[in-house]
Amino acid sequence: MCGIVGVIGNPKTTDILLKGLEKLEYRGYDSAGIYVNDEQGNDFLIKRKGKISELEAAVTPDVQGLMGIGHTRWATHGVPSDQNAHPQVSNDGRFYLVHNGVIENYQALKDDYLNDVDFVSDTDTEVVVQLVAKFAREGLSGHDAFQKALRLLQGSFAFILADRQEADRLYVAKNKSPLLIGAGKGFNVVCSDALAMIDETNQFVEIHDGEMVTLTADQIKIETIAAGTPVERAPYTVEMDPDAASKGTYPYYMLKEIDEEPAVMRRILSNYQTDDQSHEFKIDTEILDAMQQADKLYIVAAGTSYHAGLVGATLFEKLTDTPAEAYLASEFGYHMPLLTKHPFFIFLTQSGETADSRQVLVKINQMHLPTLTITNVPNSTLSREADYTLLLYAGPEIAVASTKAYTAQIAVQAVLAKELGEAKHVQAAQAFDLQQQLSLVAAGQQQLVDEKDHFKELAHDYLADQPSAFYIGRGLDYDVSLEAALKLKEVSYILAEGFAAGELKHGTIALIQDNTPVIAFLTDPTTVGLTRGNIKEVQARGAHTMTIVSQALATADDQIILPDVDDLLTPLLSIIPAQLFAYYASLEKGLDVDKPRNLAKSVTVE
Ligand code: F6R
Repeated sequence: MCGIVGVIGNPKTTDILLKGLEKLEYRGYDSAGIYVNDEQGNDFLIKRKGKISELEAAVTPDVQGLMGIGHTRWATHGVPSDQNAHPQVSNDGRFYLVHNGVIENYQALKDDYLNDVDFVSDTDTEVVVQLVAKFAREGLSGHDAFQKALRLLQGSFAFILADRQEADRLYVAKNKSPLLIGAGKGFNVVCSDALAMIDETNQFVEIHDGEMVTLTADQIKIETIAAGTPVERAPYTVEMDPDAASKGTYPYYMLKEIDEEPAVMRRILSNYQTDDQSHEFKIDTEILDAMQQADKLYIVAAGTSYHAGLVGATLFEKLTDTPAEAYLASEFGYHMPLLTKHPFFIFLTQSGETADSRQVLVKINQMHLPTLTITNVPNSTLSREADYTLLLYAGPEIAVASTKAYTAQIAVQAVLAKELGEAKHVQAAQAFDLQQQLSLVAAGQQQLVDEKDHFKELAHDYLADQPSAFYIGRGLDYDVSLEAALKLKEVSYILAEGFAAGELKHGTIALIQDNTPVIAFLTDPTTVGLTRGNIKEVQARGAHTMTIVSQALATADDQIILPDVDDLLTPLLSIIPAQLFAYYASLEKGLDVDKPRNLAKSVTVE
């Protein structure tokens, strides 16, 4: 949801900005821009509608400097265009601003302070930069003008401000949007995500909500926006293999990330299992103690993570005897159900930055209720703000469509459910050999990703030419249907829906015509007969059906046979063909698989 970068004190500023923006392109890709200043009075502003490659093509070799800022945009206010691209510039040409977030009171600020200003863009960001310039014209220093403007803002922001008159520094501020300072040797950098600057430094300083920073080549001066109180904060080391974030020989990140799923399962096993041979997992006893007090587990998440939470709720109920329910974060915060006496909250979020999930966490923290974030990104906002964190160990997920994080979220919830169940002496957990099962899952996933060519053919035969498609299933298979449909629609633009198989006949079956693809998941022995009946019903109405079946339940007519694992873990396998269908359908339609239209990873607006 917009990515921002900044550099101060490095002669390779332009390269660092462009490389950083490439790495942040997953956050938005409808326009991009940079501002570079050589501290000798020469400066450059280049902005382009479209992907970073359009911007790169427009940057000539003379665009060099020691300081600069950059932005890749996911439009909120104003259509994607050169004018609405960032950096936004004050009319006097003094201030340049990049912004990730949404300023909610921009219209009021315009009315109250900027009646006499001609705006050139439709962005909320321009209001801020014009406001800073106005306060500076009234006599305030760049620093004080920025701080005064910040104090008037409502909404979310990660800002980097460049002042032409003080080209030896950048000003930075944060509220609710992600932002890190990277401490280099003789220079400093700013970014939305450490990934963008990991080639420059592995030393990062967190900036908290309500803080601003004055950044020079050798100083990081943090203070609170409200009172100007200085804040001391030491850098921490980010452990990240820069290669993990590269595509290598793969044509798209999505395919690489699907291929990595077996390795992620093994990594989760090795990070969570105890060092002895006891077949136990290590989960902080404080987490287990807090969860044992709970009379209900509330899993809060968005999109694919919500779908992983649906599976998690079943795992928790079956293995821990504790009621558990998954909720959509965007609904939960504003339509909160009546809570039980002793709720425990689990936030599932790959990025750790999703605004919908965060607003719930903020509310739950105000109620002083216990919280755990399960995330792929250490030190992310939701990780910092929850009482406890468990990591996914999935490695950077760059493709906008989430794949390996979905299976990692299910696996980590399984580990937690197993340990909580053991702590509560629940027989089902004691009898569940999760280590062995996750090893089987990893082997089974490997077998499936090795069958890519088969799935490619099926994607061609069933999906690529179709305007719509349905995934159906019951129980966990229904949960997987929802995720399978989301994957297909987001990367191939096929109108796909996931349905509870038994619900089809209550309305949706009216949509079935000759050749409509209906793909059924069949991994639940208790309902397999019923779902097979539903398949017959749609076949009778012309549907082109396909089945994805556990080996133990398979017949000669089934198309995809999944290696056998425990019934509770079948989603870790059954989703793989569906992820590959989405990938190949998108590829066949000639789409940009990793960057579907209108989307961005890490959705930091509500
Ligand atoms: C879909 C997808 C999204 C995310 C959702 C939540 O492929 O990736 O639906 O799952 O935006 O993101 P996180 O997990 O980062 O909170």
